[in-house]
Amino acid sequence: MKINFNLIIASTFVLTSLTILSSCTTTIEKSPRSQAIIKMKRATDHHSYSKPEVAVVKHLDWSAKVDFDKRIISATASYSIKCSDTAREIIFDIRELDIENITVDGKDATYTIGKEQEFIGSPLKVAITPESNKVSITYKTQPGADAFLWVEGEKPFLFTQSQAILARTWIPCQDSPGIRFTYNASVDVPQGLMALMSAVNPTEKTENGHYDFVMDQPIPSYLLALAVGDVEFRSVGEHTGVYATPDLIDAAEYEFAEMEDLLVAAENLYGKYAWERYDLLVLPAAFPFGGMENPRLTFATPTIIAGDRSLVSLVAHELAHSWSGNLVTNSTWDDFWLNEGFTVYFEQRIMESVYGRDISEMLASLSFKGLVNEVRDIMDQNPNDTHLRLHLQGRNPDDGMTAIAYDKGYLFLRMIEETVGRSKFDSFISKYFSKHAFTVMDTDNFIEYLENNLLQDSTLRKQVNLTAWIDGAGLPDNCPVIKSKRITAVDEAVEKWAKGDINTNSLGWEKWLYQERYRFLKNIPSSVSLEQLEELNSTFNILNTGNNEVLFAWLEQAIKKNHTASYPRLEEFLVNVGRRKFLTPLYKAMLDTDQKEMALHIYSLARPNYHSVATGTMDELLGV
Ligand code: BES
Ligand code: ZN
Repeated sequence: MKINFNLIIASTFVLTSLTILSSCTTTIEKSPRSQAIIKMKRATDHHSYSKPEVAVVKHLDWSAKVDFDKRIISATASYSIKCSDTAREIIFDIRELDIENITVDGKDATYTIGKEQEFIGSPLKVAITPESNKVSITYKTQPGADAFLWVEGEKPFLFTQSQAILARTWIPCQDSPGIRFTYNASVDVPQGLMALMSAVNPTEKTENGHYDFVMDQPIPSYLLALAVGDVEFRSVGEHTGVYATPDLIDAAEYEFAEMEDLLVAAENLYGKYAWERYDLLVLPAAFPFGGMENPRLTFATPTIIAGDRSLVSLVAHELAHSWSGNLVTNSTWDDFWLNEGFTVYFEQRIMESVYGRDISEMLASLSFKGLVNEVRDIMDQNPNDTHLRLHLQGRNPDDGMTAIAYDKGYLFLRMIEETVGRSKFDSFISKYFSKHAFTVMDTDNFIEYLENNLLQDSTLRKQVNLTAWIDGAGLPDNCPVIKSKRITAVDEAVEKWAKGDINTNSLGWEKWLYQERYRFLKNIPSSVSLEQLEELNSTFNILNTGNNEVLFAWLEQAIKKNHTASYPRLEEFLVNVGRRKFLTPLYKAMLDTDQKEMALHIYSLARPNYHSVATGTMDELLGV
């Protein structure tokens, strides 16, 4: 396997260099949609200043020292570059970095830093010649760098979050998902802490706090990741393992014991796992996301540790990104649905294959409901944001992180699967991944590939109606209907219970899986009284559930109904947990019910613990 694999890498490496250097060529191609279309080989990324067609990075050697007292990383980033015949400069993206010195092939270089723009930062332009090989940038990060979260304490913790365009706040880079490079790193951290990256990782702490890393498969900058903390490693399978702090390592080992099964299921669906190992790092609760698919080492929130392995679909999701996203990468953030829609589809298929269709359909039906609500909200604000193909120029790419990319993307692929049949669809997807491994994909190129390789038949093309999905608003008429008997039963139960036709004791709550409990809580109508709500809590002890999804759904109802007995738990949850998916609806619920004072009070306690990704959203929501 290894030999084959290296061959693939070597050849794609050459291919990518060629494509990137010829990226400006405009080609005229025939599409099966009959008319000739003029298409740029590579879409322009409006969120990066870099010009890869002029000069592009190929490899990074990063040497860094992490200073927890000052909250600064001092580093040198040395890039091997490839230049076109006319190259005069190479452009990097930077934001809030203090550049100290730059050399090109060992000699002091001339450089300029352009004007800073919101979100995207500044272009760092370094003078080169077509013969230049190596650019070395010595710099320091700033304590408030947006990618970082520094957690204080006896055993401090640091993690980075680079996606979408935050890598440039800790490493000068050509910060566009369409540009891939390999990297080596050598990192010094305080003794007693382990450093981990999206690379080959240690499993033990070193005595002197020095760690060396190798990532010899080309990755885009948004997958650069670093974590430093007092963590331990446990193996859970031949290619899988978990890292967590000592207080969580046993629980993590139990919770993620099925990771190898997920990996095997994924390989059986869409081909060999390309990254050798799949490990997972449990981060501090302040992590703003559920998970982040950093290659070889998924970063995950501790809020998925439920004690009963019920929330592993998140692991299936991040694992699926090892194909959709990390192997075949969205060309720009406008094509984000290619990363996330494919990943949700793949996640669903992994869940179905390991846990059965009942479970995967329950999950799909919960997301469907969420999507329908979100489509309604987004339609009120900006209907174009409900298209799969986004237009994020001049905006924060974070704006694209909605249920559209994820769940409309998923439904689009599911609709195609249901139209052409599963076995055809599966071999199409397998081929799609292997053919485009270690390259980029944009929406136009995907459509073309789809039309040429799966939808050659014009009746089929009419049936799927690509335009409605890709560049149309809302959910098209041929959107699949998701049927989960168990969820339908819950929907009926909640209605009857609300009317008093079923009493609390006979709901069957104890036998329900978390998905059913979540759905029940989410669907409680506004007519339900505070007393009825309290009866649920006193009967099932919901406030003490170990499942954070259920707790979240409960807290949202508690806020809506003013269930003050839940407020201490609410405050504790919001102060400890920084996962934005939970924060936004909970703070919103407080605003919607005239409890802004409480929201602001809790936020003042919680804000210092949150990552910039979360404070960015909450500051705006709460107007602080
Ligand atoms: N890659 C995303 C997280 C992300 C997207 C970070 C865009 C920054 C910008 C990750 O794979 C993800 O989708 N996480 C979800 C998990 C879920 C859908 C199972 C999350 O964190 O909620
Ligand atoms: Zn994802």
